[in-house]
Amino acid sequence: MKNIVIKVGGSLLFNKENKINHEFISQFCNIIQEGKNFQQVIIVCGGGSLAREFIKFLRKINTNEALCDIIGIDISRINSKMIMACLKDKAYPKIPKNLEELSLGLQFNKIITMGGIQPGQSTTTVAMEIAEYIEADRLLILTDVQGIFDKDPDKYDNAKLIKRITCDELYALLMKESNSMQAAAGEYRIFDMVSLQIIRRSKMKVYITSGKNLNEFRKFWLENKEINGTLISN
Ligand code: UTP
Repeated sequence: MKNIVIKVGGSLLFNKENKINHEFISQFCNIIQEGKNFQQVIIVCGGGSLAREFIKFLRKINTNEALCDIIGIDISRINSKMIMACLKDKAYPKIPKNLEELSLGLQFNKIITMGGIQPGQSTTTVAMEIAEYIEADRLLILTDVQGIFDKDPDKYDNAKLIKRITCDELYALLMKESNSMQAAAGEYRIFDMVSLQIIRRSKMKVYITSGKNLNEFRKFWLENKEINGTLISN
């Protein structure tokens, strides 16, 4: 049996009013518990709007970026504790804070939930580091958009979903879209250069799809069906 890492974007855990998205969390946890296709499941949660709220405040009072990152990490760990609590005895009852602590958790055959691990990166990068570490067959990123588009779908109506993309093509796309805020707490884009290097060297398959409607995820998780989203591979 294979291993999988799932990154749950913070945007799915909270709604627009910054309230916990009960419906998403309970539906997601129910689906996860029904699945039997993977041996080791690791769920990495993002920080979401709550993390960005804290980071905004810290920036206002002129705190350094590292402290902003640490707050982001703390919030992502709290978020992962919510998922851990929902999964009850199916989940390993501790949030590993680094890969060493994770290796301990792997001994127990439980679903492991995690947040950030070190300043200077996003939880998407964490998910990739973990996927590489456990030699996961795939990494699934659940976010609030259907996948990677050829241009920003929020700005352009004619943005097209890219169903398959190689690391080189993604690199070219990232270079085109990059801006000065790309490497600041709370602002690491869906793929930074570190995460791209990890995909490249580990040759893992990365799928991105929307978690807004969990039907797609349900089909993948329970029926082993292809995901409607983007696949990044070498
Ligand atoms: P994310 O920005 O990854 O959360 O983590 P998210 O809400 O899922 O983001 P999207 O939806 O993918 O855009 C929250 C913040 O925590 C810090 C960063 O500041 C990050 O922006 N963080 C997270 C770290 O510094 N290190 C980590 O290992 C993880």
